[in-house]
Amino acid sequence: MPIKSRIRTIPDYPKKGIMFRDITTLLKDPVGFRLVIDQMTQHYLEHGMDFDVIVGMEARGFIIGGALSYTLGKGFVPIRKPGKLPGDVVGQEYQLEYGTDKVEMHTDAVVQGSRVLLVDDLLATGGTALAGAAHVEKVGGIISEMAFIVNLPDIGGQKKIESKGYNVFCLAEFE
Ligand code: PRP
Ligand code: ADE
Repeated sequence: MPIKSRIRTIPDYPKKGIMFRDITTLLKDPVGFRLVIDQMTQHYLEHGMDFDVIVGMEARGFIIGGALSYTLGKGFVPIRKPGKLPGDVVGQEYQLEYGTDKVEMHTDAVVQGSRVLLVDDLLATGGTALAGAAHVEKVGGIISEMAFIVNLPDIGGQKKIESKGYNVFCLAEFE
């Protein structure tokens, strides 16, 4: 069974009209979770694209980013919801598919000039990933690529992100 078939869809969550792509069903399946991490690991080992550190978006980006940090032997930097990081932070508000949000990153988390793989579970409007990229660039990091399990191309995030010159890698798509 492929990755996509292991993702459950819940209509009208968290708001009417949203088709929520729920990756908890993929993650609880030991074969499914392993497939995700193996395919992403394989992609970065074969791709020849090197980078220095993985930056993961709270919360679901931590699950994928943490495992990938381990398999690829890279450090992991969390981008968190406001008020969770104890040191000096850079922060920014951004638009979501269903509302607004804000995230923060430690100012000293990414060293100037270091190449970053930004990781999250899902790409919808691209607002979260672009906020993450803005934080990384604010402290002098360089986004090498952005990786997601799921892409929702109809919402337009991938086009928006690629039009700004970033590379996107995804394992599955939902219309
Ligand atoms: C979801 C998802 C991505 C983001 C994608 O997170 O995990 O981070 O939305 O949407 P975008 O491309 O429109 O920005 P959510 O805000 O639901 O937070 P969570 O991961 O903490 O549940
Ligand atoms: N984050 C933003 N849009 C989403 C969706 N449709 N399903 C799951 N997570 C999301």
